[in-house]
Amino acid sequence: MSKQFALFGHPVTHTLSPRIHRAFARDLGIDMEYRAVDTAPDDFKAALDRFAEAGGVGGNVTLPLKEAAFGLCADLSPAARRAQSVNTLIRTDHGWHGENTDGAGLVRDLTDRHRLDLRGRRTLLLGAGGAARGVAPALLEAGIDKMVVVNRSAERADRLVDLLDAPGRVASRYWEDLEALGDFELVINATSATRHGGALKLPFGLASPRFVVVDLNYGEAAAPFLSWGRAAKAEAAIDGLGMLVEQAAEAFQRWHGRRPDTDDLYASLRAEHARLQTAD
Ligand code: ATR
Repeated sequence: MSKQFALFGHPVTHTLSPRIHRAFARDLGIDMEYRAVDTAPDDFKAALDRFAEAGGVGGNVTLPLKEAAFGLCADLSPAARRAQSVNTLIRTDHGWHGENTDGAGLVRDLTDRHRLDLRGRRTLLLGAGGAARGVAPALLEAGIDKMVVVNRSAERADRLVDLLDAPGRVASRYWEDLEALGDFELVINATSATRHGGALKLPFGLASPRFVVVDLNYGEAAAPFLSWGRAAKAEAAIDGLGMLVEQAAEAFQRWHGRRPDTDDLYASLRAEHARLQTAD
């Protein structure tokens, strides 16, 4: 029987993950099955147990289950522990081992694909939820300069700053103070504000001359923030499609010991997204 892998999330109707992993497996000649399992949060633990009993050896976890997965793992990688969320599962003799490949995926996309030098960049991170926690440690490790975390609810921003435990490099500020924060060289939208048609009101004063904007969302959800970045004359406006492909490649490597080449797949997904956006 082929090795069994699955994505757990709720909903999973529009996910690209099965397509991405099947393409990697095909390219590398690896025999595996990968399916999407729509899992209500209340049923997640039972669903994982059923999957393991049926021979499941690895999984991915997406919204809204990443934090629950963190709580269900028998052990955790350092990145998962720092993020307090898990997007990749590996079955071991004593239960699930949890990893978080989002941060590594983002850094890989920005540095390798977009040729961005992250070192020394003054960074503004908008949001302090699961997505922000997933990427913040990897950005610090990649050598960004100071990071300011701004979140709608200030307590959550403070919690993320405490968790990152990098005194002098990371600070939280209030959303109302955005006008007074000065300018940044990297601004990352890790909020879910635009996922349901909402907007983010941001001042142009955040833009420095070598200013880059990154939205962890892709498709329609990334459009409002990236449009703001372009209007503010960003050198580059990057959505989360490349991060999605790269975090998948990182997970794939942990399962199979081989990292797939991502360029062709990224190019075809990018072409489809461009077509979809012009067709709207
Ligand atoms: P995810 O796993 O996608 O990060 P999450 O943990 O629910 O999801 O976090 C959502 C993030 O988007 C949070 O930072 C949230 O701010 P709060 O902590 O104040 O809730 C942010 N967010 C959601 N809607 C927003 C809005 N309309 N304006 C600004 N921030 C918003």
